Amino acid sequence: MKVLVVGSGGREHALAWKFAQSERVETVFVAPGNAGSALEQGVKNIEIGSTDVEGLVNFAGQEGIGITVIGPEGPLDMGIVDRFREAGLHCLGPTKTASKLEGSKGFAKEFMQRFNIPTGRYQIFSDLADAKEYVRTQGAPIVIKADGLAAGKGVVVALSEDQAMLALEQIMSEGRVGEAGQTVVIEEFLEGEEASFICICDGKTAIPFASSQDHKARDEGDLGPNTGGMGAYSPAPVVTPEIHQAVMTNIIKPTVDGMAAEGAPFVGFLYAGLMIDSLGQARVIEYNCRFGDPEAQAIMMRLDSDFLEVCERALSGKLEGYELSFDQKTSLGVVLAANGYPDQYEKGHPISGLSNQVTNTKVFHAGTAVKDKKVVTNGGRVLCVASLGEDIMEARTKAYERIDLLDWDGMFFRKDIGHKAVTRR
Ligand code: AMP
Ligand code: GLY
Repeated sequence: MKVLVVGSGGREHALAWKFAQSERVETVFVAPGNAGSALEQGVKNIEIGSTDVEGLVNFAGQEGIGITVIGPEGPLDMGIVDRFREAGLHCLGPTKTASKLEGSKGFAKEFMQRFNIPTGRYQIFSDLADAKEYVRTQGAPIVIKADGLAAGKGVVVALSEDQAMLALEQIMSEGRVGEAGQTVVIEEFLEGEEASFICICDGKTAIPFASSQDHKARDEGDLGPNTGGMGAYSPAPVVTPEIHQAVMTNIIKPTVDGMAAEGAPFVGFLYAGLMIDSLGQARVIEYNCRFGDPEAQAIMMRLDSDFLEVCERALSGKLEGYELSFDQKTSLGVVLAANGYPDQYEKGHPISGLSNQVTNTKVFHAGTAVKDKKVVTNGGRVLCVASLGEDIMEARTKAYERIDLLDWDGMFFRKDIGHKAVTRR
């Protein structure tokens, strides 16, 4: 079977790499992909952008693609799954309506309230003065979230009232995130430890992947600005077997049942971003309607099951009773970023050391391109170096060993990925 993966990041390289290991997969196409997917065995890039929905539908039809899997949220929010379905093509992901779980934070909050899914207290505002008044009554810390998709720039965790007011001004009146900020959700600040809980769903049943934890802050010690994610590892020990069970019962099942009951059954990857408090209670910080990046890189390192099979089951409504199997080892992925990320950064620097090998490590590409036969930087998050180890310590040592062999002008990375799991030991 031919498979198409839509997107160009580290997540898409990891998904394509995993698909290529499946015996029944003939070729994996990635649109548009990066240098990593271009060089991967059994994988080919095609020059169609991830939001060129018509171009992707035409390509999938002409090439006889058996399954298309969507990486990023943008095309899902545009209704790419609906368009593929109209064209009689199999595309794994939620419909435009079901994608609102990620595409509108207000929708997600009201949905959770309707189905009693644990989450922080909140209110929704479209008027700046009302929003400010609410902040005054609540005090700080408090969290301001643009309603729509904002590529990681729509959430401000305000530690003071002044900071919250400034965020409201920027989002609601100065257009910092464009239309996405016309409405905001103001949410209670939740304390605890975060974890990423990702499932594959067929509209009725959700099957969990191994747990993982991202590192959203740019700098060591979880300081600095919010990013798309600077590293991840799996499993996340904060998700004990008891918490895992409770999340399935109190969060994932009611989410899948609720979406079905409202006529928008969720098919695809459902990602619940959780905050787990000191009593072990998990609450939803946000939903994503796709795989996480860099969580995908860490999780795919451990996935033993055939990825094509589970995707086919999700598309045909046959996930009930199925289980995914994972390597017992711990995986860890460290993102190597370009100087200046998450703001302005340079592109086009040649990357050295890519041909070096360290056992049980894999370099997933994100913002890379091939130029004059050389791999050069082409984005903010450039690579994700992933590893497998007997425990978090070994996984960490291996990943950083491989990183020592890589370099480009302006490369930076966090040296403490996995620190919460290390401290727990
Ligand atoms: P998001 O873009 O929704 O993933 O939010 C970015 C980050 O902001 C999250 O990963 C959390 O670290 C933080 N955050 C979001 N909502 C809350 C909340 N209610 N309480 C505390 N931290 C939050
Ligand atoms: N790593 C967080 C995300 O994919 O949204």
